[in-house]
Amino acid sequence: MKNFKITIFNDYNQLSQESAKYVFSRWQEKYPKKFVLGLATGKTQVGFRKNFLKLVSNRKPSLKNLYLFNLDEYWPIEKNHPCSYFWESNRNFWQPLLKLRLGFKQNHAFIPNGETENPRFEAANYEKTIKSVGGVDLQILGVGVEGHIGFNEKGSSADTTTRLVNLSDSTREANKAFFSQGKRAVPKQAITMGITTILKARKILLLISGRKKRMVFKRLIKSKQNKNLPVSFLKLHQDVTIFTDREASGKTIEEINLQSKFK
Ligand code: GLP
Repeated sequence: MKNFKITIFNDYNQLSQESAKYVFSRWQEKYPKKFVLGLATGKTQVGFRKNFLKLVSNRKPSLKNLYLFNLDEYWPIEKNHPCSYFWESNRNFWQPLLKLRLGFKQNHAFIPNGETENPRFEAANYEKTIKSVGGVDLQILGVGVEGHIGFNEKGSSADTTTRLVNLSDSTREANKAFFSQGKRAVPKQAITMGITTILKARKILLLISGRKKRMVFKRLIKSKQNKNLPVSFLKLHQDVTIFTDREASGKTIEEINLQSKFK
């Protein structure tokens, strides 16, 4: 676990501000060269995105060489469905970046196509597109309560690439809040980057926030990598930063006396 650099923030606000600063700094280290940022969706990411947009709008770097790759998308789902990750990312991230008029290109924003009739081809093609830009420099992740990353559910192995997956009942239950017609409207499948795809990113930033994530944080810290907890495969990566808050971390760190930073 030496590869995990864990920082525990007081609360979600602080975690969101610091994650935006962290991502901005890693990008500036490569600037003005191409920077490929892997993005996640979900509630945890909202604060990071707002703070990141604020930072960009204040500092005004050129966005010409910024590439964005979303982790996953429901399948099937229309792009203009308000619960698609396409719609959500376009509204809350890509359009605000375009509006800054700092050179961001819409064709540098990638997400698996939830409208495709051939999801297997789409998945293979997505994997190729990531390779064609030189791979992901920094991948941001959230985690599901049962330990999924992207939509790599329990049972996903370490050698998986971008593919079509079935969503678990608990994931559909957790995500139903976004769908006005409830769980039955949540698609049963998704296209997601695989574990291998994620592990190929040069750096990883994992955000874990809130009381609901306390158990998964504890399991991540305490268990060896295994298929029942896909997030545990991050232990195979050399450069993982974990930003968490007091609600999610609970007493886990004190219990095992792990070296970590408290802020
Ligand atoms: C979702 C997404 C993941 C996300 C995770 C946690 O199902 N597919 O990419 O990181 O579950 O979401 P949240 O931050 O809303 O808890």
